[in-house]
Amino acid sequence: MRIAMIGSGYVGLVSGACLADFGHEVVCVDKDEAKIAALNAGQSPIYEPGLSELVAANQRAGRLFFTTDIREGMRGAQAAFICVGTPTLPGEGGADMRYVYQAAGEIGDAIETFVVVVNKSTSPIGACDAIESIVAERAPRDKFAVASNPEFLREGAAIDDFKQPDRVVIGVEGEAARRVMREIYQPLERNGSPIVYTTRRTAELIKYAANVFLAMKVTFINEIADLCERVGGDVMDVAHAIGLDKRIGRRFLNPGPGFGGSCFPKDTLALTKLAIDARSPMRLVETLVDVNDKRKVAMVGKIVRACGGSVKGKRIAVLGLTYKPNTDDMRDAPSLVILPLLQQAGATIVAFDPEGAAQAAKLLPGVEFASGPYACLEGADALVVVTEWDAFRALDLARVKAALREPVVVDLRNIYPQSVMREMGFKYVGIGRGA
Ligand code: UDX
Repeated sequence: MRIAMIGSGYVGLVSGACLADFGHEVVCVDKDEAKIAALNAGQSPIYEPGLSELVAANQRAGRLFFTTDIREGMRGAQAAFICVGTPTLPGEGGADMRYVYQAAGEIGDAIETFVVVVNKSTSPIGACDAIESIVAERAPRDKFAVASNPEFLREGAAIDDFKQPDRVVIGVEGEAARRVMREIYQPLERNGSPIVYTTRRTAELIKYAANVFLAMKVTFINEIADLCERVGGDVMDVAHAIGLDKRIGRRFLNPGPGFGGSCFPKDTLALTKLAIDARSPMRLVETLVDVNDKRKVAMVGKIVRACGGSVKGKRIAVLGLTYKPNTDDMRDAPSLVILPLLQQAGATIVAFDPEGAAQAAKLLPGVEFASGPYACLEGADALVVVTEWDAFRALDLARVKAALREPVVVDLRNIYPQSVMREMGFKYVGIGRGA
């Protein structure tokens, strides 16, 4: 099947490359000429493990193409996926749909033969209805159908998440559209991935419900961690023990400095707004947003206390800047809140991140960037672990201690064993590791 992906950002590029790898012929379209030129030259504009190789292999096989011309992309396509961003609207928290609707209009103008317009961008309930109206202004109704196909890709694991999904969700009405969607995902269905067919509005809601539930799960264990610090519990044992309950599950119960990224923050705000507009407010979700925002600030207090009550004039080494490991993405990263507040309190910050430094440098003025973890630690009065990159887990702790001016470690991801750290003479402060 020939498929057009409108938007070659994170979701469009990963989804397009994986669909090509299934044997479909895929054309990824993007307005950004530099991005398309880079892709045609074999360079991936985003850091995602395995993506460059997947793109190159499918380009060589003649199944994956890149263009800025949507008409070229749509030629002969039986499906056109909308994979453009839906950022948070300033102020009110809703999703900015203008890029989705602009793409819908351009798709409508380019329709020649029957095509299923598939919205993969995370969108408020009813977005597919709006897309349908926009396309209908430009193309006869018997020449298209609209479907919802939300993505559940985690950055750093996106290819696996696409190829071995827990489920594929398809919101579609009409037999013709359903047949096209079934053919697109046939390879996954044959591999046993559950395909959930439902209505478009339900599919749109499933995406928000899934993401916000995961954000809630993370926020819940973060609050349990705070309680552990008051009552003397160990949150890692709590997470392990409750996670053994199959109804709960252990994943997304790792405490940290708060969630970030391009999805959780945006989707939690969008869902609260959507629920208020529908006169069915979700107070749990409203609270979750507030708790998460305050948590990032609260981490600064933890660091200041670990440094004896003040960081004025102190050199703080920070390992990890991206919102999670295995990505170069700095969107809504906790480091963007924590580091400036430490600087305002008088600290000098030196940081290292395996992939995020280039983007972080544009967002964190005044922060020094080291060439590696040990260089980062040299002469620092404290080490703060903000992102749990694997590269930090096996550091030579004796060498860490020798490099630090003061053996203070604030581990916001609990990657180091507390007992070992304390036996080695570190002043070790984790998350939720007892009073
Ligand atoms: C998320 C969803 O997982 C994915 O299904 C959806 O399609 C897009 O949004 P992503 O934002 O890439 O994916 O990252 P994820 O791994 O979910 O982590 C989100 C945030 O939660 C990160 O800041 C991460 O550090 C934090 N997190 C996650 C925790 O603090 N603890 C955990 O146990 C898991």
